[in-house]
Amino acid sequence: MRITIVGCGSIGSRLAKAADEMEEVKRIYLVDLRKEKAEEVAEGLKKGIVVDSVDEELYHTDMVVEATNQEASKKIAPRVVNRGVDIMLMSVGALVDDDYRNALMQAASEHESKIYIPAGALCGVDGLRSASNDRLDSVELISTMRPIDGSRIHGKTTVYSGPARDVIGRYPRSTNVAATVSLLGLGFDKTKVTIIMDPEAKINIHEIHYSGAFGKACAKTENNPELENPTTSHLGALSAVATLKRVCRNEWTGI
Ligand SMILES: NC(=O)c1ccc[n+]([C@@H]2O[C@H](COP(=O)([O-])OP(=O)(O)OC[C@H]3O[C@@H](n4cnc5c(N)ncnc54)[C@H](O)[C@@H]3O)[C@@H](O)[C@H]2O)c1
Repeated sequence: MRITIVGCGSIGSRLAKAADEMEEVKRIYLVDLRKEKAEEVAEGLKKGIVVDSVDEELYHTDMVVEATNQEASKKIAPRVVNRGVDIMLMSVGALVDDDYRNALMQAASEHESKIYIPAGALCGVDGLRSASNDRLDSVELISTMRPIDGSRIHGKTTVYSGPARDVIGRYPRSTNVAATVSLLGLGFDKTKVTIIMDPEAKINIHEIHYSGAFGKACAKTENNPELENPTTSHLGALSAVATLKRVCRNEWTGI
């Protein structure tokens, strides 16, 4: 298998290192807006090749991994699926735009391209995926995090409670989990998100609570940050590695 990693930041570089150790992966094309980032990652790999743009090796790659940001994702993903190439999307928040999402899904279906969205920084989405095959009554994400330095929040404070749609982009540390939960469950308007800023919080905590015909479930994830980019959780980066392994090893346990 040949993969193209677009975005060689914290997730892209971790994934590249893991992919380099996988027998199934034969080539790793690396792209970054800042070419030196791609070159730095390639230096530590056996199978890494730096390319200038995602288009460069699209005919030769089996899967593209987008690990950039929402804006870039919206430019990259359509180009990939329109060529019938599979894509793993990390900047899930980009899919909050209904017109964009529907067009991307339609193009993927027409061109037989698969879109992989890792579970990211959240445990419990496996159950939500199953539960959504029958009546789902409620889905709520509660994120607790430390306020950004310099903010005027002194005690534990709920700063947002409302639909997931309005969280995307506004609270970057909850954006991707809110989007993933919405896509799996009740959508962006019926999924409730509560954001709590807690000056005592040392790490980001995401809890999901959902109920429906299956019963009730809740899952809490206490996320350690990724060293290279503290706004990204370590589990989020590991979920990209796990997804790549599932895809190329046809290993689907627990899905
Ligand atoms: N799904 C999840 O649960 C989850 C978890 C963590 C992070 N994320 C998302 O994954 C994405 C990547 O996260 P990260 O921590 O690796 O970010 P990062 O900032 O460490 O790295 C992003 C890299 O992308 C590069 N880049 C930006 N625009 C580009 C473009 N147009 N073409 C090529 N390269 C480009 C940047 O130069 C940078 O090196 C972000 O959108 C982040 O929000 C998702």
